Amino acid sequence: MSSAAYWDREAASYDRRTAFLERRLLAPARAWAAERVRGRTLEVAIGTGANLPYYAARATSVTGVDLSAEMLAASARRAADLDVSIELLRADVAALPFEPASFDTVLCTFALCGVDDERAALREMGRVLRPGGRVVVADHVVSSAAAFRLLQRLLDATAARESGEHHRRRPVLVVPDAGLVVQEQEAGRFRLVERFVAVRQPAPGAPPG
Ligand SMILES: C[S@@+](CC[C@H](N)C(=O)[O-])C[C@H]1O[C@@H](n2cnc3c(N)ncnc32)[C@H](O)[C@@H]1O
Repeated sequence: MSSAAYWDREAASYDRRTAFLERRLLAPARAWAAERVRGRTLEVAIGTGANLPYYAARATSVTGVDLSAEMLAASARRAADLDVSIELLRADVAALPFEPASFDTVLCTFALCGVDDERAALREMGRVLRPGGRVVVADHVVSSAAAFRLLQRLLDATAARESGEHHRRRPVLVVPDAGLVVQEQEAGRFRLVERFVAVRQPAPGAPPG
């Protein structure tokens, strides 16, 4: 099953199934990420639009992309409920249909764990960012605690096969490979969730700022 087909199937029940984790782990990361949003904002792998209530009022425009048509439909419903104006497109985060330097903020939460190549995704997020703009990421990552790492290894060996989800990635470590520089980085308890802000690396010889 392709990733899009998997997420299409999950879309209707996603918010209900993740409600427990949402309250305990995901919501604080969404609030943190939203505080760092400004200007023309692209949210990649937008899912059901769970971040919209946190950041939409801070952005001057909101564009969302996702591989899954059903997830995009859920986002559209949430945006309508919130009275948020949004442009939604079906696209792969690794091949975004935007000109370079189109956005002030590119936001991605709980999705780099599921893309084929997180370096390619981060590189593409950086490409569409204007100089001085920010990539804002929050994700579940390999834990700093041995007991959680064991659980994550088991999940990677079982659940990951169907969902394509990786439980032992740590995207902040591959940020330099994507031509970006980490500006801010924080992790929660046991490093179950990590969040960071990255900016584009200046071109060689470019003046600072
Ligand atoms: C775990 S959900 C997270 C959704 C949302 N970002 C959130 O924080 O709740 C992962 C989402 O990533 C999307 N996705 C997976 N691979 C993708 C890709 N290569 N390009 C764009 N979206 C992708 C899925 O369709 C799904 O909506």
